[in-house]
Amino acid sequence: MSFPVDPMRGWTALALLTAYGLMCASIWWAHRRRERARLLQQSQLGEATAGEARVLVAHGSQTGQAEQLAWRTAESLHLAGRGVRVCPLNDVDAAVLAEVSELYVITSTYGEGDPPDSAVLFADHLDALDAPRLSGLKHAVLALGDREYEHFCGFGRRVDAWLARQGATPLFDRIEVNQLDEVAIRNWFERLSMHAGAVAMAGWQAEPLDEAGWRLADRRLLNEGSPGEGVFHLELEPVDGPLPAWEAGDLVHIAPPQGALNEAGAPDRLPRAYSIASVPEDGRLHLLVRLRRLADGRAGCVSGWLCLHAAVGERLTLGVRAHPVFRIGDNAERRLLLVGNGTGMAGLRAHLRARDPSRTSVRPAHGAGPVVVPCWLFFGERDPQIDLHHRDELHAWQASGLLAGLDLAFSRDPAAPAYVQQRLMERASDIRDWVKQGAAIYVCGSLNGMAASVDEALREVLGGDTLLTLQREGRYRRDVY
Ligand SMILES: Cc1cc2nc3c(=O)[nH]c(=O)nc-3n(C[C@H](O)[C@H](O)[C@H](O)COP(=O)(O)OP(=O)(O)OC[C@H]3O[C@@H](n4cnc5c(N)ncnc54)[C@H](O)[C@@H]3O)c2cc1C
Ligand SMILES: Cc1cc2nc3c(=O)[nH]c(=O)nc-3n(C[C@H](O)[C@H](O)[C@H](O)COP(=O)(O)O)c2cc1C
Repeated sequence: MSFPVDPMRGWTALALLTAYGLMCASIWWAHRRRERARLLQQSQLGEATAGEARVLVAHGSQTGQAEQLAWRTAESLHLAGRGVRVCPLNDVDAAVLAEVSELYVITSTYGEGDPPDSAVLFADHLDALDAPRLSGLKHAVLALGDREYEHFCGFGRRVDAWLARQGATPLFDRIEVNQLDEVAIRNWFERLSMHAGAVAMAGWQAEPLDEAGWRLADRRLLNEGSPGEGVFHLELEPVDGPLPAWEAGDLVHIAPPQGALNEAGAPDRLPRAYSIASVPEDGRLHLLVRLRRLADGRAGCVSGWLCLHAAVGERLTLGVRAHPVFRIGDNAERRLLLVGNGTGMAGLRAHLRARDPSRTSVRPAHGAGPVVVPCWLFFGERDPQIDLHHRDELHAWQASGLLAGLDLAFSRDPAAPAYVQQRLMERASDIRDWVKQGAAIYVCGSLNGMAASVDEALREVLGGDTLLTLQREGRYRRDVY
């Protein structure tokens, strides 16, 4: 028995196969490009010559500060003529340590003394019973943290104590840095030059903000009547000149307004981080900011100013910050599982806008229509009627096929209160299928209220080993705060 052959179906199948082939090739090319860039950066620092100490600078970093300082540290050692390697702590294991004679660890701390994401795999070694003896190793630790948290520099302290327990010799005492305090960081570079022969880095300063100025171009309350605090959609633009370049996943640092004082009554100059909710093609830099209320009912310094006090048109000082751990990286052609809550919508929305089929798509030949690599959004908030930020846009993306799935959880839903991690458990088998098909997972939003439970749920759904593999492959990325 024979079936009539529809030539259009044949062409469509061929077009889809070609598009798929192109997609696979571009994943491979993107990976090669990144690997080449990494090797180039590495080779510029030089390799140790025979007989010389083998020096490793390892960083544990979530929002990039420790990583930035690691590269500066490597630079100062390299300028003194030393061969240096730089890598995330996650790449450090017993075999790596066996090859190294000097180790510089620069790491931040999150949660309750926990490691940042680029050090979670390394943290497992700290509890291992068969950890290696490190008697031939010299080391120094720069621990970044914030005294507002109970476990100040907790993870840096843990790594330092572990190195000492394993027999390594400190080159100098651990240096702890509160809120990127420049004096402490300068101290680190001075110690490096005294004890490790590094070239002194005079006048180290945090990356400056863009003093040329930005303007608040628009502000909209998104959740009027919500049981939670107001969430505002903000649009910012440079006062003069073009928008700077950034990628989905990046952050901005916004300076407190002139004259702001901190709780101790001293000038508050510490910039606050916000996830960017748009891409440069949108023409403006969008944010999603929730008004923070302090215990005494006053508004938080920067969120209060952005959400309540700054007039539309008013100037502000900000800096756009690359946030590589939450960028698309090698995942540009992969399906994305996006998970978040509250203002975490910001970072997820930037990734969705970067993929918006009306702008970017793989268009196969013969007019078969754009191929959109789909995303699946799990999002949690409080009230189902009020708190689905950017509701219309999400529904338009469902209609266009960009959002293949939209699973929502509202904690104040009178019919069925739920949290986002419950939705992950309910959809376990489909999630496993997506991951088998190559999906990457992006989590954005609160660290305490959401990310830890989501991590647990993913561990249950996928298995701990698979989640670790995804992390190693850059397919599990988080912007959590
Ligand atoms: C990587 C990153 C991305 C972020 N993205 C966003 C975003 O997209 N949208 C958004 O609205 N906010 C975001 N934030 C939070 C934002 O940076 C500010 O912390 C928030 O707006 C409060 O600042 P404020 O100046 O209004 O409050 P402040 O005047 O700084 O007061 C905040 C009060 O809360 C306390 N506090 C500070 N941090 C915490 C904490 N984590 N947990 C509990 N208490 C704390 C302080 O001790 C202080 O009393 C992000 C933070 C990080 C680190
Ligand atoms: C959500 C969150 C949790 C944090 N938890 C801690 C903590 O428990 N202890 C601490 O010392 N610092 C804590 N910090 C401060 C960071 O460690 C500090 O800002 C550091 O400079 C960040 O460096 P990174 O960009 O390399 O990750 C926390 C910061 C955030 C945003």
